[in-house]
Amino acid sequence: MTLRERCNFPLLDCRHYRQAINDAVEKVVDSGQTILSDGVRGFEEDFAAWLGGGLSAEHCLGVGNGTDALELAMRCAGVEPGEGVIVPSFTAYATVAAILRVGAHPIFVDVEPGRPVLSLMEVERRVAEKETSPRIRAVIAVHLYGEACDLHSLRELCNRHSLALIEDCAQATGTMYAGHSIGTWGDFAAFSFYPTKNLAALGDGGMLVIGKQAEASLLAKARRMRLYGWNDRREAVQFGANSRLDEVQAWILSGKLADLDEKIKARRRLAQKYREHLSSWVGEMGITLPEEGMNWSHSYHLYVITVDPAKRQEILAKGASAGIPYAVHYPLACHQHSYIAQQPGGLQHPLPHSERLADSVLSLPLNPYLTDEDVHTVSRHLHSVLADL
Ligand SMILES: Cc1ncc(COP(=O)(O)O)c(C=O)c1O
Repeated sequence: MTLRERCNFPLLDCRHYRQAINDAVEKVVDSGQTILSDGVRGFEEDFAAWLGGGLSAEHCLGVGNGTDALELAMRCAGVEPGEGVIVPSFTAYATVAAILRVGAHPIFVDVEPGRPVLSLMEVERRVAEKETSPRIRAVIAVHLYGEACDLHSLRELCNRHSLALIEDCAQATGTMYAGHSIGTWGDFAAFSFYPTKNLAALGDGGMLVIGKQAEASLLAKARRMRLYGWNDRREAVQFGANSRLDEVQAWILSGKLADLDEKIKARRRLAQKYREHLSSWVGEMGITLPEEGMNWSHSYHLYVITVDPAKRQEILAKGASAGIPYAVHYPLACHQHSYIAQQPGGLQHPLPHSERLADSVLSLPLNPYLTDEDVHTVSRHLHSVLADL
């Protein structure tokens, strides 16, 4: 198998879990239970236990995908059309798509200089302007690439201003903060099980997590919201979507969850190898590497470095011809998308750090199926390209 083939995580993960996938299909075929049944209930229980932090199955709702999980989180938080939701502009566009689906306004904040997570100072600044802006209801903390946001400070800030804290954990399944999993700190959290994610379904899947302090009425409301707004008698009593995690996906995800910690360890080990190979070139080659914090540990959904923007295209092109699929997550910050620029109040403030990241980020291949030799090969290739440029 070539390095390029080992970079195809969705394919390798499917093959690795072929038996668990076949077993899941068999279970559903045998039981005839295809929707919201034992598989989903079991996975909600397993996922809550895996997250820890005092959560139980009632706090976890398997939903159709991560974007739905974010939308339902905002609706549960009481975000109304026309209200503001603070979000880092440098995120996967899906985060912002969810805000728009609620009819709310994304209030973009910049990221920390050189780090792909929202800047606390910028959040404070936007909140302080709240008299003149749409009423701000919630903050979405995106743990991009698997890096953790500063959850202690965000929790304190949101409490102080009565804002809902929603964690976007789509890229950070397996990231720990202060000894606890991310997704256990916010009022709500959204996970994605899209096939490239650390915990991957055989298609789409997501999880809405509701904080353990939530009242029983909110938990019931969220469950109704997943299914048309129906009560037990199938009477619609509130807003509702159709966002169900399929039984097949749920059984598959439960099967894979048992190994997830090992898979995260493999990601972390390979990231450490990259660091060993690349750290001595940081000054000389003008690159930066992802850092770990004092009180959190990275799950390395992506291994993203920054390079000189003038050299990025050349690195991508040379990688493509050498069979090394470098990638860019993401070439545009969300406020730079044309659809957002057309929205009323599209860009409220300059976001220089987000724009700089969009110009300079480069993802190196990383998944648990790569070998140490692959990491060495990529590192050598990167070095040789940078040395020639
Ligand atoms: C940061 C982030 N948020 C939300 C999502 C949305 O997840 P999904 O694709 O499952 O809807 C993604 C997935 O790409 C993501 O990376």
